[in-house]
Amino acid sequence: MEVVIAPAEQLAVLAADAIESLVRSNPATVLGLATGSSPLKVYDELARRHEQERLSFARVRAFMLDEYVGLAADHPERYRNVIDTEIASRVDLGPGAVQGPDGLADDLPAACAAYEAAIADAGGVDLQILGIGTDGHIAFNEPGSSLASRTRIKTLTRQTRLDNARFFDDDVDRVPTHCLTQGLGTIMDARHLVLLATGPHKAEAVHQLVEGPISAMWPATVMQMHPHATVLVDDAAASRLQ
Ligand code: F6R
Repeated sequence: MEVVIAPAEQLAVLAADAIESLVRSNPATVLGLATGSSPLKVYDELARRHEQERLSFARVRAFMLDEYVGLAADHPERYRNVIDTEIASRVDLGPGAVQGPDGLADDLPAACAAYEAAIADAGGVDLQILGIGTDGHIAFNEPGSSLASRTRIKTLTRQTRLDNARFFDDDVDRVPTHCLTQGLGTIMDARHLVLLATGPHKAEAVHQLVEGPISAMWPATVMQMHPHATVLVDDAAASRLQ
């Protein structure tokens, strides 16, 4: 596992560099996209390179990590809409190029299986962007998640709902209780994992991720077993590293 400690702006440039080099060498790259605050500067940088440096995503396909269950199709916090706003609409990703788990499906387990099949049909994810929860989750694999898990329905912990209440008028009761999420096994199949974490509230999770024992109670620790994982952290998030 490679750990890079740098200011947040530089971390975003490094992540964008990794994505740009992949896309320039293979225009049909398959990207894995995360929502939340952590990747926003990366998306800004990719949009800038698209605008100013002719970086094209026209043949790229992308898969989202997760989705809330039951949020209305036009809800601004539905992850599908967040990804459209933050990145897809700002670059030249083609129509239908971004897929996510269908949190509005009548048959949620079937939607999870279909999502796994779609990722496999695309040839797997070349580079997966990740954030980390304060409780060590990646995607919405909360503590206790099987390290071999695949896309499935999960209950969000109280902590994650409190952490995400900022997107729902600071009202935790408006945060959905369930989600569909890629499993840890699904994420581990991606060929390169790039995790971003900034701020002191991520320090304990980053410490566990990099230095803790591999444990389902800190789900991100599964990344220690990945052959190509990059952890990009600022000083505050790195403050508990030895
Ligand atoms: C989002 C996701 C989550 C977030 C994590 C960190 O798609 O999968 O695991 O990456 O909750 O969120 P932020 O970046 O908002 O601190």
